[in-house]
Amino acid sequence: MNVATHHLRCTECAAVITKDDVSSNFRCPQCKGLYEVVYAWSDVKHPPNAPADPASRLPNPSALRWLWQERRSSSLAIDQSGVWRFRDLLPIVEDPEKVVTLREGNTPLYDLPRCAKGAGIDWLLAKHQGMNPTGSFKDTGMTAALSVAAQRGFEWVACASTGNTSAAMAAYAARAGLRSIVFIPEGKIAWGKLSQAMDYGALTIQLKTDFDGCVKILGELVQKFPIYLLNSVNPYRLEGQKTPAFEMVEQMDWQVPEHIVVPGGNLANSAALGKGFVEMHQLGLIPRTPKISVIQAEGANPLYRWFIDSNRVMKPVTADTRATAIRIGNPASWRKAAAVIDELGGWCEQVSEQEIALAKAEIGAEGVGCEPASAVTLAGLKKLVALSKITREERVVLILTGHTLKDSQYTIDYHRNELFTAAETAQLTPAQLVQHAALRKPPIVLEADSALVIRTLESHMNQPQPA
Ligand code: F0G
Repeated sequence: MNVATHHLRCTECAAVITKDDVSSNFRCPQCKGLYEVVYAWSDVKHPPNAPADPASRLPNPSALRWLWQERRSSSLAIDQSGVWRFRDLLPIVEDPEKVVTLREGNTPLYDLPRCAKGAGIDWLLAKHQGMNPTGSFKDTGMTAALSVAAQRGFEWVACASTGNTSAAMAAYAARAGLRSIVFIPEGKIAWGKLSQAMDYGALTIQLKTDFDGCVKILGELVQKFPIYLLNSVNPYRLEGQKTPAFEMVEQMDWQVPEHIVVPGGNLANSAALGKGFVEMHQLGLIPRTPKISVIQAEGANPLYRWFIDSNRVMKPVTADTRATAIRIGNPASWRKAAAVIDELGGWCEQVSEQEIALAKAEIGAEGVGCEPASAVTLAGLKKLVALSKITREERVVLILTGHTLKDSQYTIDYHRNELFTAAETAQLTPAQLVQHAALRKPPIVLEADSALVIRTLESHMNQPQPA
């Protein structure tokens, strides 16, 4: 593998630079656009089952599929990683043997039959990226970008985060022996995530601002100090985050679902998955690409506003949602995500706090669980089905981005019926109130009296199991 196999291309003005010429804020000096990683084979297109193209310097699709599967039984760390197993399509590091890995990826694809029924479709899967080592999809991007930082000799890495990026960065930095600085908004971050940054030894700075304010301050710091920026403006993050697309179709025996539904915050993940599908298509690994739809919380919906605006103008918002992971008003990668929606076909929807909570409880009730930001996908799916943007027979995959334990306070508040304000409860229809009541499972506190325990159990056991 050879580093000259990749360059960086501005996604706005298309200027191409070498990896060493990129500035510390990962912005194009001409137009301030974001870069994407391009390879010798990036723009080479060949139909499925065509012989290997010499310009692509890659084996043919069937050889790649075989190789990736073979690596699963290897004892090498890079082969056990569900990111580096696909390293042929992300040749970004000097020495692949020295990548920083926690054996990320290889996440399960679960079927959700009851959620499918509730949403009005026949077939629903969830790719659970919360089953990564630090509990979120960020690990797949972090192993990639942090490996680049380590191999380029940086001592310090930093990110601004709503919590998951910081947890992932802190863990991977600790593995590599690098020092990490985390900027997070004070208050609006789930405790599980904050505790991880501390546990993994990051210098954790809570700024009295929101995520967008943290990004601004960090942007100034990276220009002054030799700190490697690990926010998703760093294009190497997206190279790792594209690999769940490969893994998903591999898990589906190389069949392509019709529709992928992704939560949208800073909007890099939807862009990364789109890149993964487009590259697989270009290389002849899949015969077509799926549609990708992005779902935002109503209180943090700049992409949704852009999507429904006939002039297509992006206006940042002041974000507020209990799904703190996506509490972002000025998303850095919005142009990349918008291009994916336009290129692959797909929609953008917004969902309310009540819809998010209901969807989270429904996913939990299937024994899968996820954090609130991930549940926007199911809530959005219901809307897309109601709008006939997704039809009953289409195969849909939800990207669940974070583990349920990331934000256990949210779950506890929901089940104790302490999550919604009175005004939010008043907005629920009688049917929705019934749905919530059926899903809520608050803990029952009892005296340690066996007769009382038996009576209580009997009253519950006599109730029918909800459909
Ligand atoms: N879901 C979860 C659980 C997240 O943590 C994030 C983003 C997203 C969805 C949205 O992904 O930003 O690529 O559109 N979390 C970032 C963080 C911003 O700092 O952890 P996106």
